Amino acid sequence: PAQASGGAPGTNFEPVAPNTEDAVVVPEGYQQNVVIRWGDPVVEGAPEFDFDNQSAEAQEKQFGYNNDFAELIPLSSNGREHLLVCNHEYTSEEHMFRGYDENNPTEEQVRIAWAAHGLSVVRVERDGNGGLAATPSEYNRRISLNTEFEVRGPAAGSDLLKTSVDPTGTKVFGTQNNCAGSLTPWGTILSGEENFHQYFANADQVTDPKAQERLARYGIEGGASTRKWERFDKRWDVAQELNETNRFGWIVEIDPNDPSSTPVKHTALGRFKHESASIQIAEDGRVVAYSGDDERFEYIYKFVSDGAVKKGSSAHARRHNMALLDEGTLYVAKFTGNSPESEIDGSGKLPSDGHFDGTGEWIELASGDESFVPGFSAEEVYVFTRMAADAAGATKMDRPEDIQPNPVNRKVYCALTNNSNRGTAGHAGVDEANPRVGNKNGQVIEITDDATGTSLGWNLLLVCGDPNDSSTYYGGFDKSKVSPISCPDNVAFDRHGNLWISTDGNALGSNDGLFAVPVEGPERGHVKQFLTVPKGAETCGPVIHDSVVTVCVQHPGEVDGANADNPASHWPDGGSSVPRPSVVAVRPGNGGEIGQA
Ligand code: FEO
Ligand code: CA
Ligand code: CA
Ligand code: CA
Repeated sequence: PAQASGGAPGTNFEPVAPNTEDAVVVPEGYQQNVVIRWGDPVVEGAPEFDFDNQSAEAQEKQFGYNNDFAELIPLSSNGREHLLVCNHEYTSEEHMFRGYDENNPTEEQVRIAWAAHGLSVVRVERDGNGGLAATPSEYNRRISLNTEFEVRGPAAGSDLLKTSVDPTGTKVFGTQNNCAGSLTPWGTILSGEENFHQYFANADQVTDPKAQERLARYGIEGGASTRKWERFDKRWDVAQELNETNRFGWIVEIDPNDPSSTPVKHTALGRFKHESASIQIAEDGRVVAYSGDDERFEYIYKFVSDGAVKKGSSAHARRHNMALLDEGTLYVAKFTGNSPESEIDGSGKLPSDGHFDGTGEWIELASGDESFVPGFSAEEVYVFTRMAADAAGATKMDRPEDIQPNPVNRKVYCALTNNSNRGTAGHAGVDEANPRVGNKNGQVIEITDDATGTSLGWNLLLVCGDPNDSSTYYGGFDKSKVSPISCPDNVAFDRHGNLWISTDGNALGSNDGLFAVPVEGPERGHVKQFLTVPKGAETCGPVIHDSVVTVCVQHPGEVDGANADNPASHWPDGGSSVPRPSVVAVRPGNGGEIGQA
């Protein structure tokens, strides 16, 4: 069992044991409250949630579905008021509607789904009990699939982005499949459009071989889509609006401080299944944005801006900084191991130097109008980035999920969540950064990056899974004393520089959760579980502040065979209720700091 005693500052709590409870379970001495749930009012005039009488009009003003990323942006210096910004990744119609007929969704159900996507901005404040409560404010905002975005950067206005509705190739309605994200140093939110491919229908009617190849590389295949949106708006029908597919898969930027601002899609960061993007400021003030492409055998990217960040929060500085992601250079990562290939046998056994580690390089893909990939124009690099990265010879990773720089030691951490196909017939074999065949439990890579340069060093901090299993590695820490962790997804840091990891799809049989692990000193690798989420849920979007931790509980009750008529979870409302994706806040019962018991 994981040990509570001693430990690095910020991780001194009694670890939560693995469990399968239909509840959020927190350490002894900690309290929790639900901050906001799917359907709760966000903007003025929003009605209270009425599950059996939901409407698109109501949903457009209420908290969306399947909250994934979250951030808490301070609104006041006393720490009592924040803006909570949340992504609403995707919809689970069978859990949202009783008697849902997947072959014949109604137009209203489809419109509810469009309104349930996007993001929410909502003020939260400390309530009388110390918990966090959502409150009305002039900042509160919903962004949905009906909100207009401006396309910026080198591919804005490209013929590849033009549609019948938008002949300029610069305006897109909405964002979807927003997975992870980050807070920029200038106070805006970046959010990644991830599994956008799943909403597009009729790729099988496309006959042009080049278009077919491009669609297939992004997983856009087959006839009718699962949700049948193409019946109600032709933009989801690839046979009618081929280029609409090219208008998703970007990093978007939202300014939560200005509810009337037009959100932006940044083409300079490339188009793929962006888990997220997060920023480190280099010594010279330039911005380095890291991003992972969450799919088996996909890549890790970074973008380096041409311009330097301007300090301060003036409108002028903000405008300048919000343009930094429009001009710069896009790179993809190649990782090289330092141990003989013969020692990477696919079992997870450490090589003789005791580490999965090595060096690497960032391969230039494009900068402004210049392409560095033979056979690709710059526009093609930005819009079909995966294909350019294939040609560049980047390293195929085990599903790069969240990637974030640690503000304390400045190293960069990426969760490689799993890859059941690694090393199996017809797929790429193991390498030192992705060392296990049929990788069910994932790993966390720690990168020492030369910020604006092209060289890097790396090692695997965690090779996840059952600590009793010899294929696992917990940063060199005594594995008899750690909490088991599997399928790392989102990463975050506390002010001490400890890494916090939330999981998605725990392959060890218990519920997903949130874990803390020091990355420096004698406690490096001492993984401790801070909380678990209800049955069928994934733990997302951890925010670690001194006196409160928030997590998004995404898709509670989403297990095989369950639906709104037969719920597998009744969290958070209890009784016979349907489960509702929600944000939860956890705080020490004594009003003290997280992990300082
Ligand atoms: Fe939406 Fe990469 O998880
Ligand atoms: Ca090595
Ligand atoms: Ca994720
Ligand atoms: Ca995931």
